[in-house]
Amino acid sequence: MCGIIGYIGNKKATPILIDGLLKLEYRGYDSAGISTLEDTYISNIKKTGRVKNLYDSEGLDNLNGTIGIAHTRWATHGKPSCENSHPHLDNSNTFAVVHNGIIENYAELRTFLTNNGYNFLSETDTEVIPNLIHYYFSKDTKNDDGKFLRAVKSACNDLKGSYAISVISKLYPNRMVVSRKDSPLVVGYRDNEKYIASDIPAILSYTKNIYLLNDYDIAELYNDSVNFYDKNLNKISKDLKNIEWDASSVEKDGFDDYMIKEIFEQPKTIRETISSHLQENELCNFPELNISKDYLTSLNKIFIVACGTAMHAGLAVKNIFEKLLSIPVEVDIASEFRYRNPLIDNKTLMLFISQSGETADTLAALALAKSKGAKTIAISNVVGSSITREADYTIYTHAGPEIAVASTKAYTSQVVLLDILAIHFAEVLGSSASKDLEVLKSNLLKLPEKVKEILSNTDTIKDFAKKIYNEHDIFFLGRGIDYPVAMEASLKLKEISYIHSDAYAAGELKHGPIALIENGITVVGILTDSALTPKTISNLQEVMTRGAKTLIITNQSIKKNNFNLVINIPETDSLISPILSVVPLQLLSYYVAKEKGLDVDKPRNLAKSVTVE
Ligand code: M6R
Repeated sequence: MCGIIGYIGNKKATPILIDGLLKLEYRGYDSAGISTLEDTYISNIKKTGRVKNLYDSEGLDNLNGTIGIAHTRWATHGKPSCENSHPHLDNSNTFAVVHNGIIENYAELRTFLTNNGYNFLSETDTEVIPNLIHYYFSKDTKNDDGKFLRAVKSACNDLKGSYAISVISKLYPNRMVVSRKDSPLVVGYRDNEKYIASDIPAILSYTKNIYLLNDYDIAELYNDSVNFYDKNLNKISKDLKNIEWDASSVEKDGFDDYMIKEIFEQPKTIRETISSHLQENELCNFPELNISKDYLTSLNKIFIVACGTAMHAGLAVKNIFEKLLSIPVEVDIASEFRYRNPLIDNKTLMLFISQSGETADTLAALALAKSKGAKTIAISNVVGSSITREADYTIYTHAGPEIAVASTKAYTSQVVLLDILAIHFAEVLGSSASKDLEVLKSNLLKLPEKVKEILSNTDTIKDFAKKIYNEHDIFFLGRGIDYPVAMEASLKLKEISYIHSDAYAAGELKHGPIALIENGITVVGILTDSALTPKTISNLQEVMTRGAKTLIITNQSIKKNNFNLVINIPETDSLISPILSVVPLQLLSYYVAKEKGLDVDKPRNLAKSVTVE
């Protein structure tokens, strides 16, 4: 969704801000803008469309200030237009503000400000913020150095909803004030230079030293120092965190797109995820958790809650948890879970999966679970993200920054991590034969090489993509462990290729969906469980009889029959097979979208992290 970058230092701000905006493009946006401060004048340029339009705009080179803020906007209140894009200024052009989030009481605040003589130039909720700051600033009769800070704090007190804001003022040419609530914002530290960003990748090439802001924190930045305050403006101290991510991990490294780069990174990212918790001939190791055998014995249920691909990762590991622990597992969509009054108590363990750690629905579901007394574990990829600060425990996936909107390497790392967690719990509980756990562990350790093997031959998938990229509907079928993979493959295809697709449990076909099968339609079958293979093959025969073209992804030795294409993947235990079977399907969506000439990294209407409900 929207992205924020800010700079205060001794260099010209504009190139740094544009570079940051380009790194934030993956979040999804429809306009971009920049404000810099030079002496006592705020310059402001905004453009609809890509950051490139801003970069090419007349006058950008003339912005020489060494302090500035910039923003990519994903429209919520008001259409994508220059007027609605950020930064927004107050009526007197004294304060410029960039904002991520939604101000729920903006209509009320707008009326209040209008009654106090303010005009509005945009349809946005954000425009109330600079005007509120101006309102409080002009009412403050103390003329001391804290006036700017107090005005921002008073304005924030009035805001309902979510916000990450950064404010500059022509009256204070050497400082920037920022704050957040329910929307991410970090401060980057370097001697004589400070950065702010909604996402770490935007500033990673400048600094890996980061301060994380908590809800309601306010920070006042100068080029050589940062002061942090709580919501009552009491000074607080913060630890500087060193982010392990490599700056090159946010570059394309010679690949055409981030998505294909991230697909090809999977042997490495899976290895990273494994190595943090599993070594040959050793028990699984989760030093970040403090979960005892007594606690696990007391459990009556495990809930796994997430959205989109992360939720599919939950579905892909339900079987291994249930089989190894004999504890019922429910997997739920966070946006449903939070409103359905789920049965949770202190005997329920809750796992929340979120790559970004900022997904609004997942965070709300987590808050609900905590309020009902359940223990909560976050599985996230982003250090210091909101979910990691709310949950009782956090386990990181260590997949490195995922830039493409379509999640690939984060999914495989989530599944691997949760598989190892299930084995760890089984080891603590003693609920499964250790011989079986050893076999599973040894199969997990072999996965990076097997993914590499799949990625070493992409030609057949590319050819198949060429045959189907013009289709309007594609179906994915699987049984048991292959069904969640069918769901993930279908989501991946629809989000980047805009082809309608559906996933069905193969046994459900006859209960309705088979009515949609007609001559020439494409059906993709996934078969990785020998116990279920004959059944799924029968279902595939039924669609072939009705004229369907079929692509089969399998680790079983099945006859080619009349299938159009069979992609063989390496064998592994069916409980962990989603980590392998999803890879050719990620490639299929990628190549189909490329054949259609689409922007795979930034699909229409989508944002990388969904920070509003
Ligand atoms: O950051 P999260 O893992 O919480 O994001 C959840 C979903 O928004 C995300 O997985 C989405 O479905 C992806 N675009 C799928 O590729």
